[in-house]
Amino acid sequence: MALRQDVEAIKERVDLVSVVSRYVTLTKSGSGQKGRCPFHKDDTPSFTVSGEKGLWHCFGCGEGGDVFAFLMKIEKLSFVEAAQRLADEAGVSLTSRREDGERDKLRAVVAAAAEHYAANLANTGQGARARAYLESRGFEEAAWKRYGLGYALPGWDNVKREFGARFGAENLLLAGLLVEGEKGSYDRFRDRTMFPIYDLSGRPIAFGGRAFDGEPKYLNSSTTPLFDKSRHLYGLHWARDAMREAGHAVLVEGYTDVLTLHEAGIRNAVGSMGTSLTQGQADLLGRFVQEVVIAYDRDAAGGAGAVRGMQILRNSGLAVRVAKFAADEDPDSLVRKFGGDSMRDAVRDAVPFHHFYLESLVAKHDPATAAGKEQILAQATEFYRGVRSLPLQQEIARGVGDLLGLPRERVAHVLATRPLQRAPGAGEEGVGGAQWRAEDDLLTMLLRGDVEWARIAAVASPADFTPAHRPIFEALANAPESHNISAWVVERLREQGLEEQAGVASSYVFAEVEFADLDRALEEKLDQAVRLPALERKMANVARALRTADAAGDRAAVDRLTLEQHGLTLEKSSLSKKRDARRGMHGRDEGEAQGEITSEAG
Ligand code: UTP
Ligand code: MN
Repeated sequence: MALRQDVEAIKERVDLVSVVSRYVTLTKSGSGQKGRCPFHKDDTPSFTVSGEKGLWHCFGCGEGGDVFAFLMKIEKLSFVEAAQRLADEAGVSLTSRREDGERDKLRAVVAAAAEHYAANLANTGQGARARAYLESRGFEEAAWKRYGLGYALPGWDNVKREFGARFGAENLLLAGLLVEGEKGSYDRFRDRTMFPIYDLSGRPIAFGGRAFDGEPKYLNSSTTPLFDKSRHLYGLHWARDAMREAGHAVLVEGYTDVLTLHEAGIRNAVGSMGTSLTQGQADLLGRFVQEVVIAYDRDAAGGAGAVRGMQILRNSGLAVRVAKFAADEDPDSLVRKFGGDSMRDAVRDAVPFHHFYLESLVAKHDPATAAGKEQILAQATEFYRGVRSLPLQQEIARGVGDLLGLPRERVAHVLATRPLQRAPGAGEEGVGGAQWRAEDDLLTMLLRGDVEWARIAAVASPADFTPAHRPIFEALANAPESHNISAWVVERLREQGLEEQAGVASSYVFAEVEFADLDRALEEKLDQAVRLPALERKMANVARALRTADAAGDRAAVDRLTLEQHGLTLEKSSLSKKRDARRGMHGRDEGEAQGEITSEAG
């Protein structure tokens, strides 16, 4: 995680004014800059920025802070995410891991807390309610032990008092057991039934705590050096062997879903801890299985989550099916009411993801009306372009054609050629975004040995890659010229303790993606992952310098920068012309560079 030095290094190199002016039009005022506040409805410019001090403040709504606070607030990022973006821009590499000793210490803290919670559940008077609750949900004492369940006592400082002296409040905070308040720190989990979350080796690293009634129903540990919800799956270490054996995983939402399925003998079940599956979680699944059966709750959130989830899983190269069972049930309630076989049947009969997707479109838009047909076509276009396999594309086109009562060939043509409606630039660099996906493909080409290192190295450097991918590219850059570069890279990442990246790198080696025209694909991906983002960064810098020069009345600089800006604009449009030419020459079946999808589902 970002250590203090990283934060200082970032602050030193990133210009607050330039970051803010991507969102707010600033004009010079006194020693700083002024503009309309992006955080409230601001008619008079009350938002001030001091580049010199590195601070911003709004006199209207009272918000303020440094460059991290600004980015977190405007892009709704966590501190770590904001730090990663800024580090990227500033060319600072974040200290991504704490010292091993420090992690060991935190693991000891979490293990001790898990024992403490388990003892509360087993032997305290106050634990009676949690015992009765778990029993009412069908979890007997043997299950509490098997899954390490526990109970956090009511009160604000049980954990703090119990472990403060032994581990120090700072470590309790770092482990996510305490929360920092205005009057000091206090217990994060109070009067909750506790579900420890384990790492792949079965060590507890975090918790989900369920309230008896209040909100939120489940409270999870915050992101810590040991735990990041977006990179862990609940139950993975109990499920890993069964998953490998079965060749597929059953993906559910909740803690109780996982436990009930395991108790019913469905041991390849893992939980995404809510419906917002992340690419990190999907990649993790990809290390163990080729196929995932999504078994989210049969409600609106579960349905929407399944549609998002399957696209993310497909990006990780996984085949996906969706389990359907009675509306308003979740796997836990299904098994409790109808027995484990009902879930086994649902998994067996799960439908391929594209069927499920078409069904979800019909549920949202009426295919009997012209407007509904248009909506379905527009959304199916996005979906179709994300699919690379020709047979699968044809199946989708057939499905949409039949659904809308339109000729299949015409529908196929429309799906392949109509412009996408996606807003340009939005989330391009994020995990799953266009830049991220293009990097994914470049790394695949390199690790499979499809293209020569020199061809990519001539254009790209590690700093061009998003943080999740950068270590992989760096390892490639350092790889000795030998016959097995990919194995060397995976090994190297492991040595560095970058387990996730090592797993991702090895999955690339076996990726089934095929590039119809490798040279063309390579150029396209380089544009998207490297050339275009670099150009956009330059353009942002020039625009900023231009504003400064303008405000300072420096005519000569304005002229020079305007020319430069013009040149960059030309460069950018020539990039997109080149791309159109490539597409025109080779047909348009690949559309936007989306996640590569080749294997058949179901
Ligand atoms: P559900 O509300 O479906 O949970 O949320 P559940 O497991 O069915 O709940 P009960 O105990 O049986 O009533 C699914 C998952 O989403 C996450 C949790 O991981 C939960 O298991 N979640 C849900 C939260 O993190 N916070 C919440 O407030 C709610
Ligand atoms: Mn549920």
